[in-house]
Amino acid sequence: MSVQSEIRRLTAPDIRARKGGEPIVMLTSYHAHTAALADKHCDVILVGDSLGMVMHGLETTVPVTLDMMILQGQAVMRGSKRALVVVDLPFGSYEASREQAFMTAARVLKETGCGAIKLEGGRRMAETIAFLTERGVPVMAHVGLTPQAINALGSFRAQGRDESDWARFEDETLAVAEAGAFSVVIEAVAEPLARKLTETIEIPTIGIGASPACDGQVLVMEDMLGLSPRVPKFVKRYGDLGPGIDKAITDYAAEVRARTFPGPEHTYPMKKK
Ligand code: KIV
Repeated sequence: MSVQSEIRRLTAPDIRARKGGEPIVMLTSYHAHTAALADKHCDVILVGDSLGMVMHGLETTVPVTLDMMILQGQAVMRGSKRALVVVDLPFGSYEASREQAFMTAARVLKETGCGAIKLEGGRRMAETIAFLTERGVPVMAHVGLTPQAINALGSFRAQGRDESDWARFEDETLAVAEAGAFSVVIEAVAEPLARKLTETIEIPTIGIGASPACDGQVLVMEDMLGLSPRVPKFVKRYGDLGPGIDKAITDYAAEVRARTFPGPEHTYPMKKK
């Protein structure tokens, strides 16, 4: 007997069909509770490998492992019902060959239940993207600034600010679209280039630091909530949760030290005889 859940999750084809339509809202989440909040408002929840920096205090995404991604992907799937959940393939888990990429992606889909994976790279990943999509793995691509390549790039700098670089980015983006990606994240590129890429390709572009010209936007949740100590120029802080959390912990510590917490309302009395 088949079991159908009442709320149907958005799928990769649903997001693909949004090209040029209502903007796609995407946000990262790594936990069940924040996933439940994001699920009410977002079309796509990204379990990004930025979790290495945000949750674990790493300097870059390079040390993030597949097991870390799967664990948080499972948490986000438990917390959400409606959004398409996309899980990042971490550095070193997919670049060696298209077969390696398929085995990694299959593990992510099977063990998390997510609806798609994301991988970084343009033309060099096109053959892999085609291999995966032909075998039932929906792929979101990621071009422009690709943080997993930080050791080769040298720094997290905006890309495509010189028109002489544009042809390379157009080629990268066209390659992933033609290979079968259902959408592509464009990170930290100059506004006119993002506009041109969005107009050129047939799949939705999801910008992060790539202007409103894109078909959708993504941010790292902790950055937009004001919890990250340093954020790139493209982040707008929609909240300032740091001081609120600081105050709550200050009050808790003071009440524990003064023995005013726990109060009678937080304490179990004996059963009435
Ligand atoms: O890992 C991540 O959070 C990402 C977004 C920045 C797009 O890839």
